[in-house]
Amino acid sequence: MNYILAIDQGTSSSKAVLFDHELYQVAVAQEEFKQIYPKPGWVEHDPRDIILSTMSTIERVVSDARISFREIAAIGITNQRETVVAWDALTDQPLYNAIVWQDRRTAGRCKEIESSYGELIRRKTGLKPDPYFSATKMEWLLENVPAVRDAANRGRLRFGTIDSWLVWNLTRENLHVCDFSNASRTMLFNIEELKWDNDLLNLFGVKEEYLPTVVESCKLLGPSIYGPRIGGMAGDQQASLFGQTAFQTGDAKCTYGTGSFILMNTGKKPKISEHGLLTTIGWKSKEEIVYAVEGSIFATGALISWLKDGLGIIDSPSETESLAREVADNGGVFFSGALTGLGAPYWNSSARGMMIGLTRGTRKAHIVRAVLEYIAFRTREILDLMEEETGIRLNKLLVDGGVTRNNFLMEMQANVLNIPVDRSLIKETTALGAAMLAGICTGLWDLESLKNKRISEVVFEPSGDRMEEEFRRWKEALKRSMNWAN
Ligand code: G3P
Repeated sequence: MNYILAIDQGTSSSKAVLFDHELYQVAVAQEEFKQIYPKPGWVEHDPRDIILSTMSTIERVVSDARISFREIAAIGITNQRETVVAWDALTDQPLYNAIVWQDRRTAGRCKEIESSYGELIRRKTGLKPDPYFSATKMEWLLENVPAVRDAANRGRLRFGTIDSWLVWNLTRENLHVCDFSNASRTMLFNIEELKWDNDLLNLFGVKEEYLPTVVESCKLLGPSIYGPRIGGMAGDQQASLFGQTAFQTGDAKCTYGTGSFILMNTGKKPKISEHGLLTTIGWKSKEEIVYAVEGSIFATGALISWLKDGLGIIDSPSETESLAREVADNGGVFFSGALTGLGAPYWNSSARGMMIGLTRGTRKAHIVRAVLEYIAFRTREILDLMEEETGIRLNKLLVDGGVTRNNFLMEMQANVLNIPVDRSLIKETTALGAAMLAGICTGLWDLESLKNKRISEVVFEPSGDRMEEEFRRWKEALKRSMNWAN
């Protein structure tokens, strides 16, 4: 029983990662699946694709590593958060496509409830009314999909976040559970009382019987259909906070993926933000609960993809580094990457992308550099706000995700923040976090021994140049990109 298997069910692909008892990554398998865009602003997944791609990566990783399931001590699960699946408990069949966290179909409903219920929702859930979260997606399913309504009337409706849907399908007894970190992203869960909140259930017409039982992030469940038990579950951003061993109050990480998700461990009590950050449950074990504040930037890696596939001005993401180094500065060009609106702390869904300061001398390199500056500046404004609201001074930022391969960006990030930026050697920190939770659960490790297992690949030290003037000008530019798509 020397291995831990981590499932990382993400927005664009499912992944299975096998770790050995020293937490070395032995094998990884990944499979992309179809993104469904039925209307502008709508994003769906076929729940069967989610299960099939997950199962095929599990089977592939075990066969690639030439081990048997009997050698796996436990399975950890981490997942894209907020996405909702509705299914029939009797037939196990989905009743509609999964409505993905990026889906904006309930924007109108969220606007409508902001003034009367915004404060109540913030206080109880740590979130703000936004289509990003699960509650209005469930309400929409109940109101618009006859099969969902019908299953509800017959007592057969089950709602779940993706961890919940996976556990239902991967356990022999079809357990209907989700973990605390995932529950805290639904906008239905009271993060102080640690239960589904009656006022919010009533507001969105969701009955508790449709919802999963909330269990600890570190809990043995199962056996799974493969034999090993499931031992750890957490939403992907919380799992990467854990995988970065951000166990102490004040530890913070940023995962630079399609978007960026910045989380800071704030300890045992929730700290409700007054200025647009989210409060969330980091993880919960029998012994402790850890809260975090979170700031999300919807598009960061997506901007690099857009430079490549949308504008066609680079051939590969790595080119952004050499291009940005070609010029001494941004040449007066500033960029707002609000291609799908702005997340924390503005939550301005009608902001749009914008480039300002173009002159006859503007070159491709200036544009690329301005895009990278946008990523660094957005990260800084969120971390500045986190420090201000929590009263905690950050002494370094732990980073992971594909975009961190760009050394120029990481150097600039350290300068702009004026603290070291510490890139982890293991890039799969999300899967690692799920594996660590599962290992703790089976008694393979404890928090102390895990702390020593984190290896830095590089620490980028600040040079002293905070780029204050550019930051000030950029903020000015960002303001001009708000409310454009009204
Ligand atoms: O909140 C959304 C987040 O969990 C999505 O993560 O990595 O699947 O894009 P990812």
